[in-house]
Amino acid sequence: MTGPITPAKPTPGKVPTRVIPNEAGAAAEAAACLAGGGLVAFPTETVYGLGADATNATAVAKLYAAKGRPSFNPLIAHVIDLPAARRLAVFDATAERLAAKFWPGPLTLVLKKRTGCPVADLATAGLDSIAVRVPDHELAREIIKRLGHPVVAPSANRSGHVSPTTAKHVLDDLQGRVDLIIDGGPAAVGVESTIVALLDRPLLLRPGGLPRNEIRRVLGKDPDDAPASVMDPEALIAPGMMASHYAPRTTLRLNATDVKPGEALLAFGANLPKGTENAVRVLNLSPAGDLLEAAANLFSDLRTLDAAEATGIAVMKVPFEGLGEAINDRLARAAAPRDN
Ligand code: TXA
Ligand code: MG
Repeated sequence: MTGPITPAKPTPGKVPTRVIPNEAGAAAEAAACLAGGGLVAFPTETVYGLGADATNATAVAKLYAAKGRPSFNPLIAHVIDLPAARRLAVFDATAERLAAKFWPGPLTLVLKKRTGCPVADLATAGLDSIAVRVPDHELAREIIKRLGHPVVAPSANRSGHVSPTTAKHVLDDLQGRVDLIIDGGPAAVGVESTIVALLDRPLLLRPGGLPRNEIRRVLGKDPDDAPASVMDPEALIAPGMMASHYAPRTTLRLNATDVKPGEALLAFGANLPKGTENAVRVLNLSPAGDLLEAAANLFSDLRTLDAAEATGIAVMKVPFEGLGEAINDRLARAAAPRDN
């Protein structure tokens, strides 16, 4: 096995990026582009993904370069259904149960990679495990079906930026770096898939669009949380767990009960904190306090407030239940200190 491969620096603005609406012919065009080794951003039910043919190592290398993603960070293989997933990974009884219950949908399973798995080693960063998911989005499914291969698709943002939930977000990050962007409107769920590893015991690697209690119901117990070592970029069991992965440039102040001069406010619910009237900009994840609505708005609102030239972003407390776990996870990462 070779060591980590450092992707070549892409030349920004080199690729003419086309944006097309999700109309008849879009899936066929996307699949043709992927088959030719191209990069296509498309909506899924969670966030927009940047797709490449998972079996084409050159296309996968191009994808890492376009994202500016360290190549040790493995990708999720998106497939059409459970039988297709079984060709990539070894499913034990627990994996079968979770897949039967939640696919298609916002759940990614990390499983032992099957011998002869056609996914390029680069896409799994040389690990002997593989992340697989069956997305619940008509267009995404149509593209995968037409290509006839698994599609690796990380969130379609530059590495370290927040995930895109609209085609415009994708364009802001990746114009000149990808071939095609399909505009299918805002992503319904708004946060990435929940990732559960079933390598040894069930481990929740990333809270996401499928709430923990749903998984508990099938497992009969809570999945264990990923150990602290996963949060350590040196340990990199699940590299995407790096603490400051979801990073706006503006500093976030969590659980704010007031708004300080110069700050923007990311609100939740109806009771706005004192100082709101002086905020540089106010966005409310969900005035009604609905966590589904809040998840769908999260990344879009973070991007907008990041551009508001505020001294900081005050973020109101968001409850932890249901999708609140994933929302709090992304907010904590966005608020984590970082080097650059
Ligand atoms: O909702 C989603 O999952 C979106 C849409 C586009 O499907 N995709 C997405 O991919 O969020 P990405 O690459 O941004 O995040 C995938 C995460 C990364 O943190 C990566 O480290 C982790 O999955 N991962 C992938 N393969 C893994 C493996 N074999 N073991 C542990 N973690 C893995
Ligand atoms: Mg991502």
